[in-house]
Amino acid sequence: MTIIITGGAGFIGSNFVFHMLREHPQDRVICLDKLTYAGNLSTLAPVMGQDNFRFVKADICDRDAVYSLFAEEHPDVVVNFAAESHVDRSIENPAIFLETNIMGTAVLMDACRKYGIQRYHQVSTDEVYGDLPLDRPDLFFTETTPIHTSSPYSSSKASADLLVLAYHRTYGLPVTISRCSNNYGPYHFPEKLIPLMIINALHDKPLPVYGDGLNVRDWLYVEDHCRAIDLILQKGRVGEVYNVGGHNEMKNIDIVKLICKALGKPESLIHHVTDRKGHDRRYAIDPTKIHEELGWLPETKFADGIKKTIQWYLDHEDWWQPIISGEYQQYYQKMYGSRG
Ligand code: NAD
Ligand code: DAU
Repeated sequence: MTIIITGGAGFIGSNFVFHMLREHPQDRVICLDKLTYAGNLSTLAPVMGQDNFRFVKADICDRDAVYSLFAEEHPDVVVNFAAESHVDRSIENPAIFLETNIMGTAVLMDACRKYGIQRYHQVSTDEVYGDLPLDRPDLFFTETTPIHTSSPYSSSKASADLLVLAYHRTYGLPVTISRCSNNYGPYHFPEKLIPLMIINALHDKPLPVYGDGLNVRDWLYVEDHCRAIDLILQKGRVGEVYNVGGHNEMKNIDIVKLICKALGKPESLIHHVTDRKGHDRRYAIDPTKIHEELGWLPETKFADGIKKTIQWYLDHEDWWQPIISGEYQQYYQKMYGSRG
């Protein structure tokens, strides 16, 4: 089987590339990635020389490039991770989110229709459901929860999901969609909460918590997400959406305090700063469907996963130091410089 993994030089995509090469060594894995600021070729260095792996630098919005790759490789499966993924950036500049996340998805599916495919899988997010109130812990997102987005990012992901379902109904494209909660683990780009707090704490820099810090996210170790997608490819029903999450809700402030404790840093580093515009209060996934239909359950407990993750950042300064020394400095200044 030949599988194209788009966005495979990013956080979850690279973990999925490693997962597939490890779990399915007989398959051919092709990573298609534009290498935006979030894509990092050095992440893929350990597999670059493998016979059953190929890296192609291309934009999923570039129809000619995508079609010529399909004509050459005739993939059986496409898993689309490629996206602009950071909510704060989408608030600053929505246009690129619409371009990549919506138009890029359409180009990939057009290629699948033109050249034929066994499965197109769209990696979506729990953010398409909007948020839940903090005072209703009994509520969870199920696959039938209405789409109700808050940010340009989540709106672009929801639009893509609707398009994927439309291509299934209209053209009979064999699609599946997964909607996962917040991932954490190795190769997480430093702009996101957990790596940002680890790296700032290591440098004794302020830890910028948005608003009151009581917003809740439902954290899942990245390898558990990769296993879920692999299972959906093998056993998932075509045309279906599967929620992925491990019932691990945490307040942002508690995560930041936990990181301080693990690194032996004082909580006085924590600074409450201006809140994110339209900030979603709580995400919480109900994973009953993927559990009952496909037998998926998370394997990594948060207490173990966060320890492993912190240790990974301690051991891999060579990975994140070049990232935070480059254009990330201007990004950080722009986003946090004047955030009172
Ligand atoms: P990321 O930002 O770390 O990586 C995105 C990757 O896509 C990068 O390698 C980038 O170079 C590539 N890319 C961006 N635009 C491209 C384009 N036009 N053409 C080709 N490649 C392009 O993102 P991530 O956190 O790994 O998320 C991957 C996917 O999973 C996204 O679709 C995101 O919406 C979804 N998701 C993420 C999370 C999470 O917690 N991070 C949770 C649920 C779903
Ligand atoms: O739920 C899945 C989503 O999780 C994915 O679809 C997105 O691609 C991914 O980026 C993530 O979105 P979040 O907005 O939840 O992740 P982020 O790491 O940006 O923020 C997590 C929480 O921490 C959120 O409530 C905002 C807060 N935060 C974030 C940063 C970067 C802070 O308080 N301070 C910060 O500096």
